[in-house]
Amino acid sequence: MIGLIGAMEMEISGLVACMEQTQTESVSGILFYIGTIEGMPCVVAKCGAGKVNAAICAEAMILKYAPEAVINLGVAGGVGAEVKIGDAVIADAVVQHDLDTTALGEERGFISGLDTVYLKPDSLLNRALQEAAETVYPARVHVGVIATGDQFIAGGDALHAIAQAFHAQACEMEGGSIGHVCAMNQVPFAVFRAISDQADHHADLDFPQFAREASARSSRLICTFLKNWKNA
Ligand code: ADE
Repeated sequence: MIGLIGAMEMEISGLVACMEQTQTESVSGILFYIGTIEGMPCVVAKCGAGKVNAAICAEAMILKYAPEAVINLGVAGGVGAEVKIGDAVIADAVVQHDLDTTALGEERGFISGLDTVYLKPDSLLNRALQEAAETVYPARVHVGVIATGDQFIAGGDALHAIAQAFHAQACEMEGGSIGHVCAMNQVPFAVFRAISDQADHHADLDFPQFAREASARSSRLICTFLKNWKNA
């Protein structure tokens, strides 16, 4: 079984719509959809925005359904200069940009316990996501760092800091936290995000305009990934 987590309804609705033999179950206040997508057994959940919501969801999903892998999908703000609205980013590393114990001499983003800043998604999942993207994604697909924090980024110092400190290609509010939970549980994970805005001073206007189409793109890509994964 593959676990699929999106933060908002629009980020998972495309997956739930093409799920078959669907059953639902509520765990820790989160509704889980269990069934098959493109013949592949899946569990899908909407976690809500932010790192704590995402962590609760990922932990509950892993303990309850023991997925072979967890994929976080949805939308993100583009941070890299080349990353435009409509493009997508596959994370080759995730980082929590708001984890900050630099005052104690640690590196920005340092995760106590795992004792690292960057967490690595699974290379097999990433290759399969890239192959699916090459065949069906309608715009550019970048591979790079995705930075996660409990903040909608809309330009200014926050955007500058994320770009400078982590060389991030995209920013969002869940991927790093889901990666953290997966790493603690030794579950392979991946993060695939379609770009809804450029995390700049237009982001508050761009996000409502483009998030729906970006969400649809990310869920369509995941459906192709699942079809290929099942047949591999
Ligand atoms: N998700 C989509 N756009 C975002 C942004 N600008 N900041 C954080 N999360 C996002």
